Amino acid sequence: MTISLIWGIVTAVCCCLWFILGMRRRQMGEPPLENGLIPYLGCALQFYANPLEFLRVNQRKHGHVFTCRLMGNYIHFITNPLSYQKVLCHGKYLDWKKFHFTTSAKAFGHRSIDPSDGNTTENISKAFIKTLQGDALESLTEAMMKNLQLVMRPPVVPESKMPAWVTEGMYSFCYRVMFEAGYLTLFGQDLTGQAEQKALILNNLDNFKEFDKIFPALVAGLPIHMFKSAHHAREKLADGLRYENLEKRGHLSELVRFLNGMLSTSDDMEKAKIQLAVLWASQANTIPATFWSLFQMIRSPEAMKAATEEVNKTLKNTGQKVSFEGNPVCLTSMQLNAMPVLDSIIKESLRLSSASLNIRTAKEDFSLHLQDGSYHIRKDDIIAFYPQLMHLDPEIYPDPLTFKYDRYLDENGKAKTTFYSNGLKLKYYYMPFGSGATICPGRLFAVQEIKQFLILMLFYFELEFVERHVKCPPLDQSRAGLGILPPLNDIEFKYKLKRL
Ligand code: HEM
Repeated sequence: MTISLIWGIVTAVCCCLWFILGMRRRQMGEPPLENGLIPYLGCALQFYANPLEFLRVNQRKHGHVFTCRLMGNYIHFITNPLSYQKVLCHGKYLDWKKFHFTTSAKAFGHRSIDPSDGNTTENISKAFIKTLQGDALESLTEAMMKNLQLVMRPPVVPESKMPAWVTEGMYSFCYRVMFEAGYLTLFGQDLTGQAEQKALILNNLDNFKEFDKIFPALVAGLPIHMFKSAHHAREKLADGLRYENLEKRGHLSELVRFLNGMLSTSDDMEKAKIQLAVLWASQANTIPATFWSLFQMIRSPEAMKAATEEVNKTLKNTGQKVSFEGNPVCLTSMQLNAMPVLDSIIKESLRLSSASLNIRTAKEDFSLHLQDGSYHIRKDDIIAFYPQLMHLDPEIYPDPLTFKYDRYLDENGKAKTTFYSNGLKLKYYYMPFGSGATICPGRLFAVQEIKQFLILMLFYFELEFVERHVKCPPLDQSRAGLGILPPLNDIEFKYKLKRL
């Protein structure tokens, strides 16, 4: 009894000492510091409960730059968008790869792909740019347009049996259509037949959902072994992406072929897990972004009218006719790029739903010079932007919670690029895709595919909400930091093939 009591006291004293001595003290020149009350976790509970509110409270308390302890890391939040450019000028002190590579390895189960760890000598980021932009983007866009129509257009329907209204959750619908068309576009087509292909993709879709559900937990550092069914789903998905399975498929994208070839030092399963990371990157944000773009467009009669006019005009200019039986409609990247109304609808939808955390790690101690002062930063600390603060700032975006389809259009109906903070023009005012060296290499393709989806929905279907005055669903904050947040609940909608 006495021994247990002594052990208890010793443990409690050690914990207190660890807590007091292990806690960082703010030094001269460093930003204001929030250590939080819980060892290791620091402020994590408050941050993850509501990141936007947590950061707003600290911004009011400390000003535009402050440090928070989160999951053992010290994170310096830079909250003034006028400072973003200045931070990015400190590139030589900042390592953007470390955090990304570690997170990817944790979540997808591959070894480190950081060349400095010796597993690979190749620059994977350059490969992403080469295979997702320029000429490669043209072929991706062309394939996606065909695949979307393969998924969305019915087999020929006789005139007398024109289908009636179908009711479905809008998020489920977007998930199904974008996953299938996106998978076919990157990972090619099963050459054995349509029915086998459909079955395989639906199976992959279920596994992807199961795995993606626990993604925030994996990023937070929990081991996948804690989640048996998600672990199984991840391994099944990766197995389907092994080279011996991919090589049986036709029309693989340049990205997938290139990765298989370049990861020379990795074994077959390692490569498959990196392909899985690409599958996740290509779908996890695109699906909710597609949902929000469709939802906001249908919900706003002005947006729907302007989009329909733009889509019809584009089709007329190409001289093509929409039909269920004939060739699928084909629009070039140039034609898609000349659709400012759809661009504005997509941008505005992403502004309202994006909650990404842009992260860089300090390679050494250095001074961060911003316009309102300089701050001392310690090696291994993290510098972070949380662009949702800017996207919902009423000074930059008046009435920030309202969807305005033409917010990104100027008085001539062209793309608007002038937004101000404190009377100064902002270089960075829209950041759902990140910024600088870590900006998403698939962003151009992502916008093209969402645009194609909206165009085809308008071409082929009549669309309505089941509820007349549908409410905007809340954002699922459990994924804050990862990108576009899905809706917390699905929204029922009705669609019916048009009489063409
Ligand atoms: C609306 C859709 C999308 C959004 C909002 C989005 C957003 C992002 C963000 C925020 C990052 C990290 C940037 C950073 O850390 O600063 C990222 C990385 C990445 N994204 Fe996207 N993304 C989208 C679609 C896509 C698509 C369609 C692809 C590919 C087909 C793709 C491929 C990638 C890749 C490969 C990376 C990692 C880049 C690297 O680490 O070098 N993304 N994306």
